[in-house]
Amino acid sequence: MPRLFDTKFPAGCRTLPDGFWSAVDVWVKKPHVVNKRLCGVRETDGGDVGREDLRLLLLLDGEDDGLFESVMSFLRGAPPAQTHEHEQDEPWASCVRTFIPKVNCYGAMLQKELVLKDSDRQQVTFLPFEEDSEGKVSLKRGNLYQIRLCSQSCEEWTLELHAFASDAWFSDGVAYPWLPWLASDLLPKLARWASECRSSEFRSTLSLLPVEKYSLVYQQLKEKYKAMVKVWPEVTDPEKFVFEDVAIATYLLVLWAEERAERNLTAPQSFVDLGCGNGLLVHILTNEGHPGRGIDVRRRRIWETYGPQTRLEEKAITPSDSFLFPGTDWLIGNHSDELTPWIPVMAARRVVAEHNHTRRLECQLISLSLG
Ligand SMILES: C[S@@+](CC[C@H](N)C(=O)[O-])C[C@H]1O[C@@H](n2cnc3c(N)ncnc32)[C@H](O)[C@@H]1O
Repeated sequence: MPRLFDTKFPAGCRTLPDGFWSAVDVWVKKPHVVNKRLCGVRETDGGDVGREDLRLLLLLDGEDDGLFESVMSFLRGAPPAQTHEHEQDEPWASCVRTFIPKVNCYGAMLQKELVLKDSDRQQVTFLPFEEDSEGKVSLKRGNLYQIRLCSQSCEEWTLELHAFASDAWFSDGVAYPWLPWLASDLLPKLARWASECRSSEFRSTLSLLPVEKYSLVYQQLKEKYKAMVKVWPEVTDPEKFVFEDVAIATYLLVLWAEERAERNLTAPQSFVDLGCGNGLLVHILTNEGHPGRGIDVRRRRIWETYGPQTRLEEKAITPSDSFLFPGTDWLIGNHSDELTPWIPVMAARRVVAEHNHTRRLECQLISLSLG
């Protein structure tokens, strides 16, 4: 199969070939970083697979051997880069990812992808398939693609994109990206990630909760609060603020539900939002059953519209004894300006004050980055 597109790495890139695999991992585990129509993916079935496993996995057993052999030869695309003897077909390190779209456009049908990594050949192949509610799968043969790391010399590296049958490519921009997008957006991003190759010691924010639950609750809350966009009395952009606060509220509601289940709690967690600004986050969390309040040094016009159940106070917060918030479960600060570094200090002071002795503090700071 011919190469469709390629991207060159900067000369003297020292992070390859390891950086290639780190970049592939970002695309496999977090495609929503570049494909904004996805909420994320659920990854399953990791392990090594060989030719016969692949036949079973794709349910091509006997019924279409011609296709199976063509897929096999696509998988063997590049000659092995490693000098040691390469077993012809196997095994490939594999995983299956199930796409979770931001808006469910596929009904009960699951859009999945088998990802096969071939470290000898320095290539990764994506085999998309659909699974219906009875578990019957069908390969999207037009959308098979492969990304290869190629080197002319130790100094010159290129990323190549190959498609199994580009004439039959189907795109919807969600689980099936446009082929030119893979070339114009994904390849350069992979090249950048591969040359930066920064590994993070922090877990990603979305890894703290079940992405499918997040996606479902986000859809429900977006529908419920979208009317706010029309009556927004502030000068700020309503689309940005309403949907950003819906996303943050969703995150907290799902995280709190997980926390209650894990710790066997029944009461909804209480909160105080420090530097709450327009107060919409407080309004949504209150409406969804969590007792709490918001404090800001400057009142906003929109506060009047929420009704008395949404508790908002105009007050200047300082990291003093007057702001220890005893009995409150969560201190929230979203883009809270100079309050940001004070929040862990306030939390620590509160724990110390409540227990009347110093103890080792376990503090989890969650940095939210929601698309
Ligand atoms: C960037 S805004 C963020 C508002 C809101 N959290 C949001 O995400 O939309 C920061 C807010 O913190 C408030 N703020 C800053 N310092 C404060 C203080 N010492 N006491 C109370 N509010 C404060 C500001 O008035 C402002 O509304």
